Amino acid sequence: MTSYRLPLVSTGAPAQPADLPGADASPKAVVMAYHERTKHHMNRYAASLGYMDWATQPDPFRRYPGADLAQLLLPKPGRPLPYWQLYAPGDMPSEPLSLESISFFFRYALSLTAWKRFHKTTWSLRANPSSGNLHPTEGYAVLPAIDRLGDAPAVYHYAPKEHALERRAILDAKAWTELCAPFPEGSFLVGLSSVQWREAWKYGERAFRYCQHDAGHALATLRIAAAALGWGLVLLDGISNSAIASRFGLSRGDDYGTAELEEPELLAMVTPGLPLTSPQRLNGLTAGSVGAQWRGRANMLSPEHSVEWPVIDEVAQATRRSGSAPITEDYSRFPMEEELFGIPVRHGLLTAERAILGRRSAVAMDGSTTISQQAFFRMLARLMPTRDRRSMPWDAIPWRPRIHLGLFVHRVDGVPRGLYALARDPDKLAALKDAMQREFRWQRLPSCPPGLPLYLLQEGDCQALAATVSCGQHIAGYGAFSLGMIADYMDSLTTYGAAFYRNLFWEAGMVGQVLYLEAEETGIRSTGIGCYFDDLVHEAFGITSREWQSFYHFTVGGPVEDTRLTTLPAHPFGEEQ
Ligand SMILES: Cc1cc2nc3c(=O)[nH]c(=O)nc-3n(C[C@H](O)[C@H](O)[C@H](O)COP(=O)(O)O)c2cc1C
Repeated sequence: MTSYRLPLVSTGAPAQPADLPGADASPKAVVMAYHERTKHHMNRYAASLGYMDWATQPDPFRRYPGADLAQLLLPKPGRPLPYWQLYAPGDMPSEPLSLESISFFFRYALSLTAWKRFHKTTWSLRANPSSGNLHPTEGYAVLPAIDRLGDAPAVYHYAPKEHALERRAILDAKAWTELCAPFPEGSFLVGLSSVQWREAWKYGERAFRYCQHDAGHALATLRIAAAALGWGLVLLDGISNSAIASRFGLSRGDDYGTAELEEPELLAMVTPGLPLTSPQRLNGLTAGSVGAQWRGRANMLSPEHSVEWPVIDEVAQATRRSGSAPITEDYSRFPMEEELFGIPVRHGLLTAERAILGRRSAVAMDGSTTISQQAFFRMLARLMPTRDRRSMPWDAIPWRPRIHLGLFVHRVDGVPRGLYALARDPDKLAALKDAMQREFRWQRLPSCPPGLPLYLLQEGDCQALAATVSCGQHIAGYGAFSLGMIADYMDSLTTYGAAFYRNLFWEAGMVGQVLYLEAEETGIRSTGIGCYFDDLVHEAFGITSREWQSFYHFTVGGPVEDTRLTTLPAHPFGEEQ
């Protein structure tokens, strides 16, 4: 077996990172400069403090003291819904909107799922993962009147430690009814924001990327939680950031004072049954005011900020959406479910609850576990939208895949070790071939399902290569496989504008979330990898043009548990704190 070596053409970085262009630069120019500036290089990481300033460590729990807290009763464990059923949402009955179903929704999407203890230190973990476990993502909802929750429509903030909803605003009942008239009864809005400071505290300038990854993971957990209740969820992609901010009270300066602000990220519509497919009609819902009385003031998360990272504000500003027509795209050349899996997968190991609440990142991989090719192909097939637009969670976003995979395969039974590509949009195959190294083979594996656009590029042992490009992290080499998520970067910014920079990370986060759950279903684990040497990844796949850029890494394999840590239940442990 040959060992695949990195050509190592240009491991160097410019001595000084370039400044972002001035105020008159186009948003796209700001994004491109930010992306270049925040690349990690072997000889220079993106700018950060370089040490942990424990005195200013941000509180992972935002609260709005003064707002009423509506307790969500923790659902009883043991819901029997099989994991595979999440991917067949049309076959499931839809739960009525109630205090119980809302509790399930937030439990599966954003709740605390464990506490870990090492000596005297404890920290919590959630259903949604987060870079550095810093959890910049905050969740919001606009809900109608619900028995035992509230007798008027209201804006809520989700408080994960308490598993409760903080009622930030009571809305005008008549205005809400008129706005919701076109939608099925039981529809509601959810939104996400980022406290950028939480990530910047540790990661400095690269933190904006991580906030977007985390938002993408959380968008997927929201979609998956909705699927577990027989509900649809669609991103309202044409809505401006300022509309999202005003819907959730994020732009109410007096309610924040000196507390850390939240960057509005995204808004989604949850509906009973399958997702709505007519995004134009959804626009009306968020236009204009629905009359509100606001309550509560945000807590301070750090006593002070010892350092500011202005480039984060600049790229956030450059990627704010001012409202646009929703994206509609043609999926007629995508495979059907049968072409991806052979036959639709209607069996499996786990319940949805075990996969969702048991999901965990591996902190180390064992370097020995081999997975079957069936499991490998199933995991990759789950990452593909289908022609009928019914594959979950891809039914939540309207754009065709802009994230493709460059895979490092180490231990998959019957699949030769080496570099592979998954062209998640079959129509981008030619462009990917063009972008990557000329000598690659682009060979189909005989056992691969016909609809899965997976190609062998080059055979060989690429464990050391995978670890090297992932900032030297062994988890990338010791798993069954790892991967770089190669974005159709320039074309995306040109087609959809600079704001779509965020969407690329969201899509990457969604890919990651599916892999997290798929790993659980396979009886192994996975880990998101935000630390990688950007241009070394490009070199590994022979990408020389700036048109394609790696946006995220992931590893999947047999985990090694850290036996020094004690795992404690998420609840009622929180009450003991
Ligand atoms: C965007 C993102 C980037 C991450 N990057 C790394 C990484 O480079 N190395 C690593 O070991 N773990 C990484 N992780 C895993 C996190 O450390 C992990 O999600 C967090 O500690 C919470 O643990 P949990 O996933 O088990 O809930 C990343 C996770 C995310 C979501």
